[in-house]
Amino acid sequence: MRVLIVGGGGREHAIAWKVAKSPKVERIYCAPGNAGIAQVAECVDIGVMEFDRLVEFAKEKKVDLTVVAPDDPLAAGAVDAFEAAGLRAFGPRKNAAILEGSKAFSKDLMKKYGIPTAAYETFDSADKALAYLETADMPIVLKADGLALGKGVLICSTLEEAKDGVRSLMLDKQFGSAGNRIVIEEFMTGREVSVLSFVDGRTIRMMTSAQDHKRAKDGDQGLNTGGMGTFSPSPFYTEEIDAFCREHIYQPTVDAMRAEGREFKGVIFFGLMLTDKGPRVLEYNARFGDPETQVVLPRMRNDLVDVLEACIDGTLDQVELEFEDNAAVCVVLASEGYPEHYEKGYKISGLEKFSDEDGYYVFHAGTKSDQNEDVITNGGRVLGVTALGGSLKEARANAYQAAEWVEFENKYMRGDIGKAIEEA
Ligand code: AMP
Ligand code: GLY
Repeated sequence: MRVLIVGGGGREHAIAWKVAKSPKVERIYCAPGNAGIAQVAECVDIGVMEFDRLVEFAKEKKVDLTVVAPDDPLAAGAVDAFEAAGLRAFGPRKNAAILEGSKAFSKDLMKKYGIPTAAYETFDSADKALAYLETADMPIVLKADGLALGKGVLICSTLEEAKDGVRSLMLDKQFGSAGNRIVIEEFMTGREVSVLSFVDGRTIRMMTSAQDHKRAKDGDQGLNTGGMGTFSPSPFYTEEIDAFCREHIYQPTVDAMRAEGREFKGVIFFGLMLTDKGPRVLEYNARFGDPETQVVLPRMRNDLVDVLEACIDGTLDQVELEFEDNAAVCVVLASEGYPEHYEKGYKISGLEKFSDEDGYYVFHAGTKSDQNEDVITNGGRVLGVTALGGSLKEARANAYQAAEWVEFENKYMRGDIGKAIEEA
């Protein structure tokens, strides 16, 4: 089989690495890819939003399966474009990717089908939103309706902050048209857990749990980022919580999407808050998480290609997912200054020390090869160092040890990824 992966970050590297393990796969392409992905795939210089070129490429290379990984192309209908050309693609169609693409849609869906989530109101006008805030309890959460690189969520502790937030989202258009409409929702407290799943339209199969660390600095301080590190499984995600979520959240979401005429095929990522009143949905994503994928796929026993195909074919009921009884921790190595200003172009050393046979992985996020074939930094998040271990504690020690193998100028990482585990 020939497989094309659309995307070029750490998540796509983990997907490409896992796809390469499948004995069915003879060739992997990745658009646009990065220097790490180039070790397992042929990278092609086509952007993730260039649907015509992607489809043309897939036809020319006789690609059997395309995996669309990032949110923007999914929300814009990349899978529909491949299907219209008679090609097989993994991921939700545009009418289902709206589960992530519109927070107002997902909140209304949960309300309509009784799926537990924070109480909320939706606003199309800044005046009405501002008036509503006068009567609301603080802290409160503001969310841009549309996609905003994971940054369209503001947690406001005072009325003044909340009003400024509404103005910057709706009037100053901080995230462009994503803020034409906003959701204002109740602030919840608790542990956050990410649970990814495969869905074939009807059947849902849960992957093992994980937890992300979204803030830039230790102790969950600093700005929100794309994710600074993850661990899997989450010790806070107990069997009891899992049973509740299966009954009240997971299958009901899949059934709700089908009932709405928006059959979902692909990955649903459930962002959960474990509150003292039980689990609540914080958000849905319509794709693999980044960097959750970097700790979930190394623990998965199944042939990923079989599972992706079962989702497309609607035969997921015949698949059982299996995960190793171990743990994984991923520490993101970033460029100092991320997510704001940072420099790129520094040579990276130490990458040769990693061997997946020993349970050490280095997934590239923002890297490229220069003229001398050296790997250089090319983004805010540069690498994700993942290590396995018999326990979370062991995996954490291994990941931090491996993070020291890699050197580049301005290297920055959090020191407390998975620290919560030791308190569990
Ligand atoms: P989202 O993009 O919806 O996942 O939001 C980003 C982050 O904001 C989440 O991971 C939470 O940490 C936080 N967040 C979102 N909604 C709420 C809420 N209702 N209460 C508390 N924190 C929230
Ligand atoms: N790690 C969170 C996300 O992928 O959106």
